[in-house]
Amino acid sequence: MVTKGIIHRVNDLDGIIATLNKEKVGLITYKILGKELEITSVNSLKENKGIGSAMLDAIITLARKQKIKRVWLLTTNDNIDALKFYQKRNFTLKNIYPEAVKLSRELKPSIPLIGNYGIPIRDEIELEIIL
Ligand SMILES: CC(C)(COP(=O)(O)OP(=O)(O)OC[C@H]1O[C@@H](n2cnc3c(N)ncnc32)[C@H](O)[C@@H]1OP(=O)(O)O)[C@@H](O)C(=O)NCCC(=O)NCCS
Repeated sequence: MVTKGIIHRVNDLDGIIATLNKEKVGLITYKILGKELEITSVNSLKENKGIGSAMLDAIITLARKQKIKRVWLLTTNDNIDALKFYQKRNFTLKNIYPEAVKLSRELKPSIPLIGNYGIPIRDEIELEIIL
């Protein structure tokens, strides 16, 4: 995975797996650096059942326990659903990095040009929660 020109090897990241009746239904990965926690990926395999919300809650609980001051993440400009999802769960917009995906695409050429809803994938958007 690539964000802001930084390669994250997902296998090396910490994460929480969500299970439902012993079936794996979601994964959230993260990285802690000092007093900040970056959520590096969120994937729900069964959408609209509360799995994404439960994984976010788990991360916030973990962050509070570890006295983290800021939880943040990056998403892309086309990911309207994720922007809705996070903002409804107390994340606020922190920064926009125009054209940042160009650099990410140089490192990971498989990032498509067109994303959700036919929107060109160009910019990275940072959201945060201050704890
Ligand atoms: C974004 C994502 C993680 C959300 O996961 P999810 O499991 O669908 O999340 P939830 O089920 O908790 O919430 C989604 C909606 O389902 C609704 N919902 C939750 N539980 C529900 C239930 N039991 N019955 C019906 N609806 C429910 C919620 O109200 C919510 O809607 P809202 O955001 O308008 O409030 C998921 O869509 C995903 O994996 N997307 C692809 C990867 C991605 O874009 N990741 C984020 C990039 S940074």
